[in-house]
Amino acid sequence: MITIDPKEISTSEFHGWMLHAVAPRPIAFASTIDNNGVPNLAPYSFFNSFSSNPPTLVFSSNVRVRDNSTKDTLANIKANREVVINVVSYNMVRQMALASIEYPSDINEFEKAGFTPIPSDLVKPLRVAESPVQMECKVKDIVALGTEGGAGNLFICEIVKMHVHESVLGANGKIDPHKIDLVARMGANFYCRASGDAVFELNQPVNEIVIGFDKLPEYIRHSDTLTGNELARLANVKAIPEADPNYNWQELLPPNCSIAEAHQLAKQLLEQDNVAAAWQVLLAVK
Ligand SMILES: Cc1cc2nc3c(=O)[nH]c(=O)nc-3n(C[C@H](O)[C@H](O)[C@H](O)COP(=O)(O)O)c2cc1C
Repeated sequence: MITIDPKEISTSEFHGWMLHAVAPRPIAFASTIDNNGVPNLAPYSFFNSFSSNPPTLVFSSNVRVRDNSTKDTLANIKANREVVINVVSYNMVRQMALASIEYPSDINEFEKAGFTPIPSDLVKPLRVAESPVQMECKVKDIVALGTEGGAGNLFICEIVKMHVHESVLGANGKIDPHKIDLVARMGANFYCRASGDAVFELNQPVNEIVIGFDKLPEYIRHSDTLTGNELARLANVKAIPEADPNYNWQELLPPNCSIAEAHQLAKQLLEQDNVAAAWQVLLAVK
């Protein structure tokens, strides 16, 4: 383990460590407008949702480290407290990167990056037609975390209207995580695409009380074969199952098999999503 004290290295160096570690980060593709009506578009990955009622998004624009200057997005939001946050899907990622170039304030990044501006219903900033979800926001608060290079300016944004492309909806009428094909920012110039195997579903307890790791029998909990993820699947049951005398585990294992062999079989059964059978094997061979 290496240990880092942020005060002992430069802001840029710590920024690098932090951004590689706090990743993948969703990207707010922020559309704002200045008081002369010039549209502005820039990506911000210091971004997430923080409240459902009121529906609130927060993103942050840093003071530049190189010269302590601030960005157009901050100036525009200070001027009129409105923003449209567009999400970024894979098919927009290279155009989005073009919009992050630090053009002068009077340059319209919709034009530079080739995006189609469409009017919003309740705010002045324009929406990005190519983005599958566009959220019109009123900025409730701006919180400056400092004045030196690297300091964030947090925008607390209340969503007043959300627009969703039908193309990303599943049969249930909700956003399908496989169809929306979002990208996220990682450290340096690395990105992450939420598609294929990267998108998976966990059977996770919410209101159900399950036994947890501490209630797993010792010989299972300290298995040399089963991983933390596999033990977590076993711990995700309401009660330790009863050993079923009719469960024919002998068919799958040699007579007098070792605990390690039984745990290996349980591992395979867990891989096949068969938690009940894995429990039976583990209960039968102690
Ligand atoms: C994917 C991505 C994410 C970014 N995230 C941030 C961020 O969270 N904060 C920030 O200050 N700059 C971030 N940037 C850099 C800004 O997009 C860049 O400085 C941009 O030119 C600012 O535009 P503006 O002056 O029009 O606001 C990011 C760039 C990219 C490509």
